[in-house]
Amino acid sequence: MDVISTQPCDIDGNRVAVRPPMAMLAEITHRCPLACPYCSNPLQLSAASTEINANTWMRVFREAAAIGVLQVHISGGEPASRRDLEEICAGAREAGLYVNLITSGVGLTEARVRALDAAGVDHVQLSVQGVNAAMSDWIGGYRGGFARKMQAAEWIVAAGLPLTLNAVVHRQNIDDLPQAIAMAEALGARRIEVATVQFHGWAELNRPMLMPTEAQARTAREVVDAARVRLRGRMVVDYVPADHHARYPKACMGGWGSTGLNVTPDGTVLPCHAAQTIPHLSFPNVREASLAEIWEQSPAFNAYRGTGWMAEPCASCPRKEVDFGGCRCQAMRLAGDARATDPVCILSPLHAELAARVAAEVAAPEVSGFTWRRMPRPVREDA
Ligand code: SF4
Ligand code: FES
Repeated sequence: MDVISTQPCDIDGNRVAVRPPMAMLAEITHRCPLACPYCSNPLQLSAASTEINANTWMRVFREAAAIGVLQVHISGGEPASRRDLEEICAGAREAGLYVNLITSGVGLTEARVRALDAAGVDHVQLSVQGVNAAMSDWIGGYRGGFARKMQAAEWIVAAGLPLTLNAVVHRQNIDDLPQAIAMAEALGARRIEVATVQFHGWAELNRPMLMPTEAQARTAREVVDAARVRLRGRMVVDYVPADHHARYPKACMGGWGSTGLNVTPDGTVLPCHAAQTIPHLSFPNVREASLAEIWEQSPAFNAYRGTGWMAEPCASCPRKEVDFGGCRCQAMRLAGDARATDPVCILSPLHAELAARVAAEVAAPEVSGFTWRRMPRPVREDA
């Protein structure tokens, strides 16, 4: 069982200061017309009836700004599933936050894009599942979705809103990466974020279908490097590499409780989107406490701050303040201990076992099909 620290400290036991967060992810709903098999929402999706209302979101945005948050990513599910999306975005802007809307594009209309612009949205991040209808509609589980996304991109650019294309890549679509970058250019995007699937929740369920091969990951890196040179000054190419083929893990969330926080549709506040997979932590809710109290004092946020919680080999590693031991949720899932070194790291005692598992997965690709993300059925009153 993990020891949960109530005060963050370094490896020598000295208290470390809690820095202000820079960004907040506001997952205003889990409802979504799409069914992506790698969705970052949890397996237990929140029903619409549990969602906090627009007024509560506005209070949360003010509290976020007061503790130092500069930008809010308004996301879902599909945020356009909420009829009060414009009101929520306006509230975030009034609180002084930079407002980034993360959307699938499905559910937007031209009038709605204009209304969101008028409400103060600063930037739109549009997800794409593939470079053509066949791939995109299959991965998204929504027929006609690709056409609607392309239309939404036109409306967003026509409204003068800066557009980022968010291309999640995995074994099924990573070979189309050059076409995805070309598509972003053609649509007038200012940035493309190429994010290799991270294996939590739904993606972990679909891992055998999604895990890229090492050769695919290497080629993707080369494509990104070449695009960055070719597009310098015209379009930014961000890249989240396939960490299962890396030597060292990523600095997940820039370190637990250090740069950002997530608020879920029912108001639960998390240090990262998969934090609820760490079973011994309990997470506070904006209905019961202020964001300032939650950020500075909650045991869940303090659990893996600083370096004092680390076990070996992280505790004595020169990279411990570079990658912070990797991802706590991945350590929980793969090592059964959230304090453990992320097994992606070559220094982890579990790395060889993980590498063998990944090699076996990519050598014998699964063809059984996806487990699609789905909402729980509403409970009938008379049931
Ligand atoms: Fe990072 Fe820990 Fe690996 Fe060192 S041992 S590189 S701190 S994960
Ligand atoms: Fe939770 Fe990485 S997803 S720490």
